[in-house]
Amino acid sequence: VMEDWSDCLDVAVQIARRAGQVVQSAVKQEKQVSSKSTPTDLVTEADHQVEELIISTLRDKYPSHRFIGEESSAAGVKCELTDAPTWIIDPIDGTCNFVHRYRNHHILCLNHRVNMFLSSQHTILHFQFPHGGGEHRICCKERDVSKALILTEIGAKRDPATLDIFLGNMKKLLSAPTHGVRIIGSSTLALCHIASGAAEAYYQYGLHCWDIAAAAVIIREAGGCVMDTTGGPLDLMSRRVVAAGTREIADYVVKQLQPINYGRDDTD
Ligand code: IPD
Repeated sequence: VMEDWSDCLDVAVQIARRAGQVVQSAVKQEKQVSSKSTPTDLVTEADHQVEELIISTLRDKYPSHRFIGEESSAAGVKCELTDAPTWIIDPIDGTCNFVHRYRNHHILCLNHRVNMFLSSQHTILHFQFPHGGGEHRICCKERDVSKALILTEIGAKRDPATLDIFLGNMKKLLSAPTHGVRIIGSSTLALCHIASGAAEAYYQYGLHCWDIAAAAVIIREAGGCVMDTTGGPLDLMSRRVVAAGTREIADYVVKQLQPINYGRDDTD
């Protein structure tokens, strides 16, 4: 049965508006904060509320669609990506920023069958790219790494051995030299900065499929590349990624990285 994807988009935009209002009002209030996999992996009642709102509304409307959501997964629901239309949802990316009112946080939601994603922060942005039909070549086309601004995120593991590798990777990229390395506290927003041309490359170990899925579509449609940290094709469940405006910069970053093992989203 062919789905009416424009109907999906309309519904998703309405939900993103409602979810955006929930987040906007929650940001001003006192928050119940708890931790998940590690003491630095935070969740609030707003994350749960937004994910529940998105999934229950979409499930009502599209009973055959499937869901992968950050908080459902933390509650033990398996991450299974099949050929069925599947919504991949990060109810609040940058929860730590949200808790601290540091502003860089947002909602992302992708239906991987239609390459549709929504972001709801202060305004609602919505886009629909027909598969492979991206026209907006807006990524930065810099090829010289010494002129690159590079973004990364720390991930939840903070044991000394992991931090040594993390800082070693950062040191290599700082001393390339590059213009700089930034950590803004939201993997997806940082990846979107590659798409908008605000930075030249992104790399991370320890993020999840809901941090990458929508952003990978955005970057590719903007003319950039998204790949595995080994230089091979992106594996959405592998918890690692390199993205860049140009293949040359992506290849350079890949060569500098020492891996950090975080396991996989679909087996852990
Ligand atoms: C996390 C943030 C953080 C990054 C983690 C992500 P969340 O997402 O993007 O900056 O280091 O890897 O999982 O938990 O705020 O949705």
